[in-house]
Amino acid sequence: MATPTISLDRTDAYDPPAEHVRLREDAPISWVELTDGRRLWVLTRHEDVRTMLGDPRFSSDRRDPRHPNHMPYIGPDHRPQLIEMDPPDHTRLRRSVVGEFTVQRLAALRPRIQEITDKAIDQMLAGQPEADLVEALALPVPSTVISELLGVPYSEHSFFQETSADFVRPDTTPEEKGAAAGRLKAYIAGLVEEKGKSPGDDLLSRQLASGADPEDLGALGFLLLVAGHETTANMISLCVATLLDKRERLSELRDDPKLTVGAVEELLRYFTIAEIGAARLATEDIEIGGVLVRSGQGVLGLTNTANRDPSVFDSPDELDFTRMARNHLAFGFGPHQCLGQNLARIELEIVLATLLRRIPTLRLAVPFEDIPFKVKGPNYGAYELKVAW
Ligand code: HEM
Repeated sequence: MATPTISLDRTDAYDPPAEHVRLREDAPISWVELTDGRRLWVLTRHEDVRTMLGDPRFSSDRRDPRHPNHMPYIGPDHRPQLIEMDPPDHTRLRRSVVGEFTVQRLAALRPRIQEITDKAIDQMLAGQPEADLVEALALPVPSTVISELLGVPYSEHSFFQETSADFVRPDTTPEEKGAAAGRLKAYIAGLVEEKGKSPGDDLLSRQLASGADPEDLGALGFLLLVAGHETTANMISLCVATLLDKRERLSELRDDPKLTVGAVEELLRYFTIAEIGAARLATEDIEIGGVLVRSGQGVLGLTNTANRDPSVFDSPDELDFTRMARNHLAFGFGPHQCLGQNLARIELEIVLATLLRRIPTLRLAVPFEDIPFKVKGPNYGAYELKVAW
């Protein structure tokens, strides 16, 4: 049988592509060719994706050219980031930094995150009664939070925001990506060096003090800066766009702000914005869901489709703020499960609750259909979200 070709592009603002859903129903583990020519296994059932992500025989090492997320622009001196490592290196590095992201430590950041959010909303309200919410709120809040956590000076915001946007934009060439990564890496390396000389009360300084290797720390700082703001910013704009489009969900949340925690979890499941993260390389022959994946073959878990699996979530295409769907795969699963997930949750909760409370007349300034969504990945979101009040 000919290998079917599938696209990873989003085809609908809310729902996974129909062809991915069909795969889940008809051939949940399929050998496919992606539209960019990569050939790999795609997994679409929740159970199979979870099993694959939890099995360390599926490697995250993207230096191997056979890895689905191999980066052709990285040179031989590339220092793997946490997300690209396998055990035991991954286990060691993750253990050394996980203490920075405990629920308790992050809870202590709540008042500061509230302040940052309030300030961004104050600035929004001080201007015309309309704004691009991405620029006014969705990007500044998570990028300020991650900068402060790492110890990046506020004055460097626009540099790293723009450079990391170049890095994740789907239309940049491998060379442009490489150049953007190089600029960011050089910047972080300089920052780590500075922290060595004059430490502050921040993650980079604490990690150095506890003996972290400066090069490992540079790679980690790079990852945290990029992963720590772009994804959360995308989720903020998608959440706001959805609430302003689905007014009954908005009223539900306004009437009962206690639903915010469940709403955030459900919106994370519903959008599953970072699907491409669930890519691995089989390091040996592995049977999964009755299919034999050969050593050296790539595998991609379509987490967005898996998070709509009716065998796990009742009425999966409905947005239900009361379902408390903590077993979703929006933050991945297994050893690489998102390190910043609790920070992202807190930011989303605070931003949504504050926005709804402080701007009761908030509305979309363009029809929902005209919002420019990032349909081409790697992370789903909105380029711009024009709102008015
Ligand atoms: C809504 C926001 C976010 C989403 C949807 C998200 C999603 C993900 C996913 C799917 C993975 C797993 C990748 C894999 O399996 O290879 C991941 C890993 C990671 N995320 Fe997030 N993320 C978010 C926010 C954040 C934030 C705020 C931070 C940092 C403060 C962060 C830092 C990381 C790191 C360091 C990893 C790699 C962990 C490891 O390899 O051990 N993320 N994220």
